[in-house]
Amino acid sequence: MSPILSIENLCKTYSSGLQALQNVNVDMVQGEIFALLGPNGAGKTTLIGSICGLVNYQQGSITVAGFDAKTQYRQAREKIGLVPQELMLDTFATVWHTVNFSRALFGKPKNHDFIEKLLHDFSLWDKKDTRLLELSGGMKRRVMIAKALAHEPEILFLDEPTAGVDVELRKSMWQNVRLLQQQGVTIILTTHYLEEAEEMADRIGVIHHGTLLLVEDKTSLMHKMGKKQIHFMLTSPLIQLPNTLQNYSLQISEDKKQLIYTMGKSTHDQQLHLLLADLQANQIMFDDITTHQSSLEEIFVETVERT
Ligand SMILES: Nc1ncnc2c1ncn2[C@@H]1O[C@H](COP(=O)(O)OP(=O)(O)O)[C@@H](O)[C@H]1O
Ligand SMILES: [Mg+2]
Repeated sequence: MSPILSIENLCKTYSSGLQALQNVNVDMVQGEIFALLGPNGAGKTTLIGSICGLVNYQQGSITVAGFDAKTQYRQAREKIGLVPQELMLDTFATVWHTVNFSRALFGKPKNHDFIEKLLHDFSLWDKKDTRLLELSGGMKRRVMIAKALAHEPEILFLDEPTAGVDVELRKSMWQNVRLLQQQGVTIILTTHYLEEAEEMADRIGVIHHGTLLLVEDKTSLMHKMGKKQIHFMLTSPLIQLPNTLQNYSLQISEDKKQLIYTMGKSTHDQQLHLLLADLQANQIMFDDITTHQSSLEEIFVETVERT
């Protein structure tokens, strides 16, 4: 299947001389949720802006559903729904008008039923005649998404969708995102909340200083880079590791009450069996075990630190 979005050798330098994107290459697959993860200033908004025609990039090419983002701008842009980082919705216009107007801007014929369904999906139907400046922040966010979807785009960009959003709204937003995915929409979101990427994304791209450091399937990323640790709660403190245990990746905790075993990606069950037998042989007793799996956050910090 050809990618819905293809970015090749993308470079962007702002007039200040700042190189915001450096040779970015990535393809997006139709129907996936892709999280672009990176700290503030990493280049996330610049990348989205380049795809949406808001940022004029100097080098590279972007293809949206087969259309070149520069030379076939209108066709490419029509495939895209954008929810920008900054809300720009403090107007006297009503919800109904705003969403319909956005559809009209893309030259799409009126479709009352579609817009009605959209507003129902985002729990905005009973607010359809309300003016935007009278809405709560959470409702405005939902209007922004409904507005971005009004022309039935195939790709939806959500730039920091949950920054400053409460837990309830975040949850309902993710439900909506999954619903869209089921309808075949490709969703690309940026975030610096790692838990969010971990929870939502099928694939994750890590961007830092304008460079896309890695792009990987979430599950394989966590599998490949994630470490698992087993903490043995010792019945009596252990001062020193017996010689026969030196070959295991074992550590004694600072308070000497725990023995910590780190499983690498190549550790298999057999080794765990051997370790348990060796612990017993050395009369190292424990009365409890906890396990710890490294989170995407730790993986992320590691990736960024290595560069
Ligand atoms: N219009 C602009 N002019 C000059 N520099 C900019 C402009 N927009 C963003 N930058 C800079 O480009 C870098 C990337 O910014 P941005 O894409 O907004 O990052 P992110 O969205 O990941 O926080 C930052 O160093 C930012 O200060
Ligand atoms: Mg940004």
